[in-house]
Amino acid sequence: VSSIEVDVSALTPGMSLTVKWRGKPIFIRNRTPKEVEEAKAVQLSELKDPIARNANLPSDAQATDADRTAVKEKENWLVMVGVCTHLGCIPLGQQGDFGGWFCPCHGSHYDTAGRIRKGPAPENLPVPPLSFISDTVIKIG
Ligand code: FES
Repeated sequence: VSSIEVDVSALTPGMSLTVKWRGKPIFIRNRTPKEVEEAKAVQLSELKDPIARNANLPSDAQATDADRTAVKEKENWLVMVGVCTHLGCIPLGQQGDFGGWFCPCHGSHYDTAGRIRKGPAPENLPVPPLSFISDTVIKIG
């Protein structure tokens, strides 16, 4: 199993980075406090896909903001596979009706926790296996 280590020390709140892992784009975002608050305010009943889709948690974990990020005291960091769960296009960041990601191929809108909120995509953007190996380095895979 291949893993990568990403130094995120240059990412201030509101900045994102895309890296490649296993041939796929991985979105790493240092979310702003506003983005975190917006994501936390969403009720599970509002979600099209209520499952966390977080490889670091049990497969039935729910898609609360906490379980989308799931790194203690680092709730601002969101790491996801940047492949639309509809037909595989790469969503654009900080666009769409929910301020998260927008897939222009067929109009899927993801929120600031990468959860599908509108459009044809069936599932939230998946969270890959990850851990912080220092305060500023994330290991993916
Ligand atoms: Fe993203 Fe269809 S591939 S909406």
